[in-house]
Amino acid sequence: MHQTKHEDVFVDWLKDAYAMEHGQIQTLKNHCNDAKQHPELESHLRAHLGQTERHADLIKQCIERHGEKPSVTKNVMGTVTGAVSGIASGASKDELVKNALQDYAAEHFEIGCYKSLITGARAVGDMETAQVCEQILHEEEEMADWLESNIPTITSRHLAAHA
Ligand SMILES: [Fe+2]
Ligand SMILES: [Fe+2]
Repeated sequence: MHQTKHEDVFVDWLKDAYAMEHGQIQTLKNHCNDAKQHPELESHLRAHLGQTERHADLIKQCIERHGEKPSVTKNVMGTVTGAVSGIASGASKDELVKNALQDYAAEHFEIGCYKSLITGARAVGDMETAQVCEQILHEEEEMADWLESNIPTITSRHLAAHA
């Protein structure tokens, strides 16, 4: 079905993006659970969880338009955020701080991924996917901005609670 070598590579990148979004769904569910005592943080995480479920669905449709199926066997995000999540919580109960750092890294990985996909989509002439990725990119950037503004507050609250 594929006409060019570029298209094969591009569809592989879309599959990576699908696996990434799929992994983020589980991570955000866990982080919503951790944030139960902080309704504002939880509702923001939950809103991005809803967006993330939509991202996975949209990317799945992009893959299917190229005649292929997504797979979730890859752990794309693990190596990126592992350094942070590996030292999470323990006795210090600082998981909300660690989660925010992990989420911040993950959103920036997503931003890089979608910027690359937009370029790839245009290169193979898939303008519909380019447009979808631009919409998704905007939501990742909003989430990254929100985390950037809120990491100090999340940290201060943790310090005050454990003073
Ligand atoms: Fe996403
Ligand atoms: Fe995201």
